[in-house]
Amino acid sequence: MAHDVYVTRVIPQPGIDLLREQLNVTVNDDDRQLSANELKRLASTHDALVTLLTDRVDRSVLAAGGDRLKIVANVAVGYDNIDLVAASEMGILVSNTPGVLTETTADFAWALLMGIARRTAEAQTFLRAGKFHGWGIMMMLGEDVHGKTLGLVGYGRIGRAVAKRASGFDMAIQYFDPVISAEDADALLPARQVDLDTLLRTSDYVSVHTPLTPETTHLIGAAELSSMKPTAYLINTSRGPVLDEAALADALTAHTIRGAALDVFEREPEVEPRLMELDNVLITPHIASASVATRTRMATMAAENVIAAMRGERPPTALNFDEVARNG
Ligand code: GLV
Repeated sequence: MAHDVYVTRVIPQPGIDLLREQLNVTVNDDDRQLSANELKRLASTHDALVTLLTDRVDRSVLAAGGDRLKIVANVAVGYDNIDLVAASEMGILVSNTPGVLTETTADFAWALLMGIARRTAEAQTFLRAGKFHGWGIMMMLGEDVHGKTLGLVGYGRIGRAVAKRASGFDMAIQYFDPVISAEDADALLPARQVDLDTLLRTSDYVSVHTPLTPETTHLIGAAELSSMKPTAYLINTSRGPVLDEAALADALTAHTIRGAALDVFEREPEVEPRLMELDNVLITPHIASASVATRTRMATMAAENVIAAMRGERPPTALNFDEVARNG
């Protein structure tokens, strides 16, 4: 008997086509975020859920899956929306989409860094408002990127891909990452491992690339922001709660740092209202991995994980296969 899969939002069609080759697939064609009760009901009536980072798959949703739900395949590299510990305890596999979005996300972090430094969004708003009355030598002066110091908070796949781009701009690169050792870091890139305080005090650009965990929640708050140079910029393409958004708005309003470029927010889709008004902020709606090719590959990767799980095989990017095998 074919297994039943529920896809909680509209995803690129090749992912759905791949699932449909072998499984009964239902897609939430409204592309509306489902409530906790809806997720629970769907967990109890399907063998697999394909979820997005907007779905909160907590212990109660997983428990509703009972003996039936075998896998939750998240179409994202981050999986802070899923209670992985509870899933492992209950014998439910969880998979994510690592690797495929690394370069695309790094491209976008780079676009944000360049954009805030050279004031591209602000300049466009100025021009469209009819304020460009002729070239001016003092108009829209920004900061250079080349030759400056980049501090990477988190030096995993995406952090390193950003470092690769920075090396082409002759930047000095330093990183803070308590998880990896200096020996593990990419030997091809001359990057210096430092503690967080040194990184914040000495970087011209601070770019955040950590997963969201209890340890990284509000990793950068008022005290950390006050360590940064008044000329420094902060870029975040990881997860909103890694930064204390209210403290960041305070720092930007008081000009204790020069600017910030943010793709992620603490309470998406809400954005701290003050950030919406400030000129020294560049904000985008969580689109760092949003290229056609990458989002398509993320969808097919989630489908491959579901198909493997339904066959009783190891899903290629399962996060808890060994734990589930042990608990099963
Ligand atoms: C996007 O934010 C992702 O985690 O893939």
